[in-house]
Amino acid sequence: MPLLKINPTETLSWQKLQQHFYDIQFVKMQQLFCENKNRANEFHIQWNDFLVDFSKNRINATTIDLLVELANEVNLKVGIDALVNGAFINETENRKVLHTNLRKLSTTENAEVHDALNKMQHFTQNVINGTLKGSTGLAFTDVINIGIGGSDLGPKLVTEALENYKNHLNIHYISNIDNDSIQTLKNKLNPETTLIIIVSKSFTTLETISNANIFKDWLLQNNLKTQHHLVAVSSNIPEAVAYGVESVNIFPMWDYVGGRYSLWSAVGLSTALAIGFNQFKQLLDGANEMDNHFTNTPFKHNIPVILALISIWYNNFFCFETEAVIPYVDKLKMLPAYLQQVVMESNGKNVDRNGDTVNYETGNIIWGEVGTNSQHAFFQLFHQGTKIIPTDFIGFVNAFTPSDLHDLLMANFFAQTEALMNGKEGNYHTNDSNDKNAVYKDFKGNRPSNTILINKLTPKTLGSLLALYEHKTFVQGYIWNIYSFDQFGVEYGKVLANNIKAELNNQDIKNHDCSTTFLLNHYLKNKK
Ligand code: F6P
Repeated sequence: MPLLKINPTETLSWQKLQQHFYDIQFVKMQQLFCENKNRANEFHIQWNDFLVDFSKNRINATTIDLLVELANEVNLKVGIDALVNGAFINETENRKVLHTNLRKLSTTENAEVHDALNKMQHFTQNVINGTLKGSTGLAFTDVINIGIGGSDLGPKLVTEALENYKNHLNIHYISNIDNDSIQTLKNKLNPETTLIIIVSKSFTTLETISNANIFKDWLLQNNLKTQHHLVAVSSNIPEAVAYGVESVNIFPMWDYVGGRYSLWSAVGLSTALAIGFNQFKQLLDGANEMDNHFTNTPFKHNIPVILALISIWYNNFFCFETEAVIPYVDKLKMLPAYLQQVVMESNGKNVDRNGDTVNYETGNIIWGEVGTNSQHAFFQLFHQGTKIIPTDFIGFVNAFTPSDLHDLLMANFFAQTEALMNGKEGNYHTNDSNDKNAVYKDFKGNRPSNTILINKLTPKTLGSLLALYEHKTFVQGYIWNIYSFDQFGVEYGKVLANNIKAELNNQDIKNHDCSTTFLLNHYLKNKK
């Protein structure tokens, strides 16, 4: 079967979904639950340590059938096989997309990946056990990861999420070009015991190289030999060598791995240093298990496929523009920011795979914050606002440190999805039919959510969770007939910033629109 490039709205199943939407758009979930006591049984997937309950959605069995029909009509399975088998699906950059290869630990087919993993293993062991030292002979205590976007968000998320598995090394992340936070970090650290990892696939990213320069100067000002303290992760090895990083300290990246899909490669070196290589391998293993589930499971029981299809249902038929992700654990605080890059950099596209401007909605806006904090911030809008925000609730059956507090946390987790679905009459606590304020207390309910309940936050389950969202994103991009693996929209900004930086240096503002010229002149005039 061929890899199709068709406008999804021109498929027969899309027309059927449109009609189905007209039929059920006003049906309330409360009614669906009343009519079908078996609903949770019918709309959930249990897999490894995951239970995904998608029954609290505005769907019925026909919705799922038609969505799966859509997936089949656009040959999604062919797309999935093309992804994992290394077809050149990133056509605009003429590249394969093989982040799934990075986590195939048991196979020997990709020698360069295994060589890199072996190098990482050796290096991390030597730093952790203190064999590898800084230029004054002291063991490393601190590691700074300098990178941005995919060279920062993934490793930072994973390192924070797996803090309970961490060793003695302190890991710091510098991404933004914010001198104030850089100075704060420099003041805290001893350069003699600090290892600096410059992570940049291109090794030309303005932010990363500017920040690396500051830390390189810091080493030099302290009379340290930079080659003992600098490590690079890049696919631009000549540039990293020219920068002064010893070849032995350069870890590879490959053009078949996009930045936002790279935490599984040596980009995850800071994570591997933090938790040790064996735990890092568990992370890869968890992702690989999700890859196998994604590749081999019929769509109706396939977690990434089902979540992607439900998301398309809301995005393209109900026209709900945003989605929230609410993890009920502080350690996953970074998850929404990480997913914003994965989802929005991948699927924020308005031209399809035939070069035509799309006439339907693509990439969702994704946002979120940990629960219960978010309950006390923006959940008011979830419950009673005019907008509907389909939400993924992510919770864990077991805390790392068991306690009664965990039941309280999870009681909130369950209560929120129930309240969003069921709603409540406004006079529920007074039972007073004359209560004039009852109308303000009315919760209409019928607000959709997925519940992703995982046994425990471990390297392995985290790997599976992140791979789940990668694949969900892929499925959506594939069905929307867009190229999910380039990011030209961001790259243009890099060019413009470089030009303006040169103008600021020369104090010579060139031809811009009048607003930008006005702002730049104001900046130059008031800058001390
Ligand atoms: O923001 C655009 C982007 O290209 C991301 O895709 C990437 O993760 C980030 O910049 C960093 O790029 P690099 O690793 O080349 O420094």
